[in-house]
Amino acid sequence: MKVELRKARARDVPVLRRLMQLYLYDFAAIDGWTIHDDGLYGDAAIEGYWTDPKRTSFLVYVDGALAGFVLVRDGARFAGEGTREISEFFVLRRHRRQGIGGEVARQVFDMFPGKWELTQITSNVAAQAFWRQIIAAYTGGRYQEQPRPDGEGTMHRFDNGRR
Ligand SMILES: CC(C)(COP(=O)(O)OP(=O)(O)OC[C@H]1O[C@@H](n2cnc3c(N)ncnc32)[C@H](O)[C@@H]1OP(=O)(O)O)[C@@H](O)C(=O)NCCC(=O)NCCS
Repeated sequence: MKVELRKARARDVPVLRRLMQLYLYDFAAIDGWTIHDDGLYGDAAIEGYWTDPKRTSFLVYVDGALAGFVLVRDGARFAGEGTREISEFFVLRRHRRQGIGGEVARQVFDMFPGKWELTQITSNVAAQAFWRQIIAAYTGGRYQEQPRPDGEGTMHRFDNGRR
């Protein structure tokens, strides 16, 4: 199984928008969001991901087939400038629990050595289990886990720039 990340370009905007709807649909199931009358789940601010130099977006392919996306930002929500975050991360359901999310995360971390901050909302129990497992293995246990400063979930921090 070949897991590949391709940097998204302007022409990929419609693809990202559609995938984002599936991602928001998943979140709606755990966070009680309601769909709008136009049949869409809000409008996630994704334009900046190919115009803002501090943001990078990737489409995920498994054996050449589209399987998800990852949005990375330099300037994490709580740590700010100089720390990266994975702002959004999504693997299509049919590809889950096969190690693909983990492989994608490792590839992204390897691309950007330095300080990282990952946060998950309390209701996303699966994401908390996923990130805890992946980060613990990736860092060999050298990471911090603490409550999010806003009290709304869990936060992991590590630095892969000193390995
Ligand atoms: C979270 C997500 C990215 C995981 O992707 P994935 O490809 O299924 O992850 P992996 O197969 O690499 O999982 C690695 C490990 O993480 C843990 N894990 C993953 N999904 C889990 C779940 N639903 N429940 C509990 N543990 C889970 C397990 O330890 C798993 O190893 P195992 O399958 O050998 O038990 C995927 O479920 C997803 O896209 N969810 C919806 C969007 C989302 O929540 N994104 C994260 C936002 S913070």
